Amino acid sequence: MKTVEIDPIITETPKRATKEAVIEINNLYKSFGTLDVLKNLSLKLYDGENLVVLGKSGSGKSVLIKCIAGLLRSDSGSINVYNQNVLAMNRSQLDEVRQKIGFLFQSGALYDSMTVRQNLEFPLKRMKKQLKQTEINDKIIEALENVGLPDVIDKMPSQLSGGMRKRISLARTIVVDPMIMLYDEPTTGLDPITSDEISVLINDIQKKYKTSSIIITHDIECARMTADRLIMIQDGEVYEKGSLSKFEKSTDNVIKSFFK
Ligand SMILES: Nc1ncnc2c1ncn2[C@@H]1O[C@H](COP(=O)(O)OP(=O)(O)O)[C@@H](O)[C@H]1O
Ligand SMILES: [Mg+2]
Repeated sequence: MKTVEIDPIITETPKRATKEAVIEINNLYKSFGTLDVLKNLSLKLYDGENLVVLGKSGSGKSVLIKCIAGLLRSDSGSINVYNQNVLAMNRSQLDEVRQKIGFLFQSGALYDSMTVRQNLEFPLKRMKKQLKQTEINDKIIEALENVGLPDVIDKMPSQLSGGMRKRISLARTIVVDPMIMLYDEPTTGLDPITSDEISVLINDIQKKYKTSSIIITHDIECARMTADRLIMIQDGEVYEKGSLSKFEKSTDNVIKSFFK
């Protein structure tokens, strides 16, 4: 149902989403003290797809992707990433899985005291120790070109607009070639035009890097532009899942409140 024009710099044909699950979550529970955030949540992310996760503020969306990335430990259930249960892993196995996952935090979280180049160099040097400096430089330039900002390489984050910082955060995430992308509210705090540019970029990255992505958002325009499939979370469980048209045609009041 995507209606987005593909950025002309990306020439590869989109890989069609297959029915192979790269993430499979079953019966996930996560509480903080007496607060039950995730209650029996199950979902699949298929290879190559953009899965949009909708849900009210505080419904557990960020907690969900933090559990997937191993930043939070869930209480019970299973999270399989490429058929391996994250919850049963030791630290070194977990580190290996984390290398496959790119996490775009809501805050962006660039290092303010580093240039754009240094911000991108940092994860490369930590995670791709085998690379030579020339290869590192090439990867940095390629990632910046893929977010449309090759010219800001020597700038400081404070010299960039909010939309540009978001693009650089995205470049810093993709520079290490993640197979799975987790986007936490990628357009929040951006104006509508910049938000649309980020949504286009999310689709570009899906095609160029062949990533499978979970996109958490309450920006319905971002959902419309990026979703191959949607899931809505309510009270810690999957409330509805399916195509964009299924959601848009829904007569359910909870769903309609998002699509007005
Ligand atoms: N580390 C934490 N400790 C305690 N409570 C938390 C923590 N992280 C999230 N929560 C609570 O869990 C609920 C879901 O949070 P979150 O996943 O961030 O919601 P959202 O859907 O807006 O991303 C909220 O009530 C939040 O206050
Ligand atoms: Mg959140």
